[in-house]
Amino acid sequence: MTVEKGYVDAPVAPGTNLVEEIRRLKKEKQAVVLAHYYQSGEIQDVADMVGDSLAMAQYAATLTDARIVVVCGVHFMGETARLLCPDKKVLIPDLNAGCSLADSCPPDKFEEFVKAHPGHTVVSYVNTSVGVKALTDVVVTSGNARRVVDSLPADEKIIFGPDRNLGNYINAQTGRRMVLWDGACHVHELFSAEKIAELKAAHPEARVLVHPECKRPLTLMADCVGSTAALLKYAQESDAQEFIVATESGILHEMRRLCPDKTFIPAPPSDSTCGCNDCAYMKLITLEKLYNTLLHEMPVVEVDPALAERARRPIERMLQLS
Ligand code: 13P
Ligand code: SF4
Repeated sequence: MTVEKGYVDAPVAPGTNLVEEIRRLKKEKQAVVLAHYYQSGEIQDVADMVGDSLAMAQYAATLTDARIVVVCGVHFMGETARLLCPDKKVLIPDLNAGCSLADSCPPDKFEEFVKAHPGHTVVSYVNTSVGVKALTDVVVTSGNARRVVDSLPADEKIIFGPDRNLGNYINAQTGRRMVLWDGACHVHELFSAEKIAELKAAHPEARVLVHPECKRPLTLMADCVGSTAALLKYAQESDAQEFIVATESGILHEMRRLCPDKTFIPAPPSDSTCGCNDCAYMKLITLEKLYNTLLHEMPVVEVDPALAERARRPIERMLQLS
């Protein structure tokens, strides 16, 4: 069996009940499945935990009994689990599940950027490659970026990468003047203030939930700006009945599960008149690929051993500060 295509391309026997088989294999192989909120509903439903990037890292860091960890998310999430679970086999159902934001920050170019700003502390969003993390002093997620930046001395000079929108948002929140890498997520940049304004006009009572990877005009019109976990919490605790949701559409599954009586309206991307905004990388993970991954214990997430130690340190620093 090979993973030439980035995933196990093996036919599944007709009539296989994938959900039952995944549950059986998890038990048989002492495997746990971690899923991000942007995964499809059917993946979320068979996972042992579903969370945002921070919760996934925290969960991986405390795993003891498992022999195998399967990350249903994108590649940098698999790498984070790999770094935090050195004694476990870490698998991802499709190695092609990348991230446009992580790709917007090549390590060699980021190294030049860091060298051009001597004396700066390097704060990196978790959506980065291991090569970028190895150049980083402390990693953040959208769930803890403000807390981590607030923990640094007020006069500390900071480089923040790679997401310009999250960086701008944190600068506005904290009054800092972090130097920003000019990267972005292609999914979140597609949301437009005009579309949200149209939806708000049609649903005046609705609260607007916005992920901080969105552009500034959107965060300015939001009732809540936060990580996927923070948006969920807001929806659960709010007395509002309707919510306009400007983040990847996978989150709607958990929002509707936790708040069955509330209405969640996905904000469409600017180039569409209807429909949701999907991360094509996240949606590469399917039940069939997850089943084959558990069955064949492939593909394995590998991390360059020369970078692993340097990349692990800023993640552990983040976990201590969270
Ligand atoms: P969070 O899980 O931190 O909300 O991040 C969203 C994201 O884009 C992950 O790729
Ligand atoms: Fe990366 Fe954007 Fe997809 Fe998140 S939604 S994994 S930031 S491309």
